[in-house]
Amino acid sequence: MPNVQLNVVVVGGGIAGLTAALALRRQRHIVTVVEPSSWLREFGAAVTITPNSSRVLTELGIDLKRDVKAAVFRSAKEYRCTSKDQSFRFGSNGDGRELPWVDRLKAINLLGKFYMAHRVDLHEALKNKCISQDGPGEPVRIVLSSKVVSWHPEGSVKLSDGTEIFGDLIVAADGIRSEAHAIILGHKSPATPSGLDNLRFIVKTEDILNDPTTAPLMDDGPGCFAFYVDPVRKRNLLRYACRNDGMQNFGAYAPTDNADNLIGRQASLAEVSERLSTLPPMFQAIGTKASSIYLWKIGDRKPIPSYTKDKLVLVGDAAHPMWPRQGQGAAQSIEDGGTLGVLMSNLTSKAEVPARLKLYDELRVHRTSIVQLLSRTSEVQDEMMKITRFPDAPLPEEIAVIFRRFGKGSVPANYQEVTGWLWGHDCIKEAQALMASSFLKAQEEMTPLQMHL
Ligand SMILES: Cc1cc2nc3c(=O)[nH]c(=O)nc-3n(C[C@H](O)[C@H](O)[C@H](O)COP(=O)(O)OP(=O)(O)OC[C@H]3O[C@@H](n4cnc5c(N)ncnc54)[C@H](O)[C@@H]3O)c2cc1C
Ligand SMILES: *[C@@H]1O[C@H](CO)[C@@H](O)[C@H](O)[C@H]1NC(C)=O
Ligand SMILES: *[C@@H]1O[C@H](CO)[C@@H](O)[C@H](O)[C@H]1NC(C)=O
Repeated sequence: MPNVQLNVVVVGGGIAGLTAALALRRQRHIVTVVEPSSWLREFGAAVTITPNSSRVLTELGIDLKRDVKAAVFRSAKEYRCTSKDQSFRFGSNGDGRELPWVDRLKAINLLGKFYMAHRVDLHEALKNKCISQDGPGEPVRIVLSSKVVSWHPEGSVKLSDGTEIFGDLIVAADGIRSEAHAIILGHKSPATPSGLDNLRFIVKTEDILNDPTTAPLMDDGPGCFAFYVDPVRKRNLLRYACRNDGMQNFGAYAPTDNADNLIGRQASLAEVSERLSTLPPMFQAIGTKASSIYLWKIGDRKPIPSYTKDKLVLVGDAAHPMWPRQGQGAAQSIEDGGTLGVLMSNLTSKAEVPARLKLYDELRVHRTSIVQLLSRTSEVQDEMMKITRFPDAPLPEEIAVIFRRFGKGSVPANYQEVTGWLWGHDCIKEAQALMASSFLKAQEEMTPLQMHL
């Protein structure tokens, strides 16, 4: 079937924006990404690419191991850190409790599809595919040092210098502080801080191994996702591998003393040291080796009923900011982009765009709303930890109610089924199926005369 070519404006060159840009380019649309920074570069630490969002990237021509240097998940460990004087034995016979993630993945046939990537590597891979001369479609045009200040769902955005850019489709991918949702809702509903922040940093695996104080940490082996939990002080450290297991990503969570905004910033070694001060001394030694240190503010917004209006669509954190508890921020952003690519195929006219975006709402709002609520720790934290421990336990009411309110199919019976729903989802297939059924419906509704026109 032919596809009418659209002029697409993507606002924001983060993971969500670049995934959408790549998916749309591959459908032969002309795509422009507008980004305020002066060079398109990601910062920060790593992200988890849960199954099946890894599959979307594969479909977009990205090889997770080769292009993103992603580490493959192999084991999950939890250590309880209750005292500063504690010492740990790591490794298979150590003090860590193995969390049954491997079993959960095996049960849905997805072991080996769960990746952990440096944000910079993922972003680079997406950017390179976007601007490459090869591959389906025209290279994406990237306009830097340009900030969007107003949104017009009839098909344009205005930049801070007054320039207006027009598009047949406007994709808002400008992150958690985006104001594009206000156009859809009719009022502003900014993401609000959670009261927690996350000090994130990277340490080279060889630097850990070369120091006898810290080397035992690596006894847990490659591809490890480890939690060092301090339940009393609510300070948790997590670690997982990235960049071919050559780097370890750390995230140290703590209640924030500055909860009135969501503006992150670069942070110092002294702040890392302070953040790790309640943990056993080995972790202090790890902290001295930190680089790419960044303080993330954690926030979210209650689910909103729609992500689209006319020619405007929200993707990523602009649509569904969420707490990182389920490691789904990037995964859902990637699913958004993959879905949008499918929905913008086989267009017979530009006038079809708003109707196609209605399908986007149908596919994305219920799913991402559930993920947003599952990620809210204060309400369901203890229950969600059980997901990782007791896959067969029946779902408590708190979680069942989320699925009942926002879900489309049956409510999962137990945690294993939540895992299947979260990780086993094939957003591309679902979008193709919805396209096919709505196309059939449209044909049935046409009179024989219309069909001949
Ligand atoms: C502490 C923390 C840990 C996380 N850990 C994980 C994890 O383990 N796994 C996971 O999947 N996700 C994780 N996430 C979430 C994940 O990083 C994001 O959800 C994901 O990167 C999607 O981001 P985005 O592209 O929508 O927004 P961003 O990455 O914020 O990108 C937005 C882009 O828009 C640009 N922009 C902003 N304003 C404008 C404007 N006015 N005009 C034009 N452009 C603009 C910005 O410069 C930026 O490039 C985590 C998030 C936090 C806070
Ligand atoms: C996505 O997950 C499901 C398991 O629930 C699996 O059947 C399907 O093949 C996966 N998609 C791919 C191709 O990775
Ligand atoms: C687009 O049209 C082609 C040819 O009719 C068809 O094979 C394909 O499934 C369609 N794509 C979608 C997403 O509906």
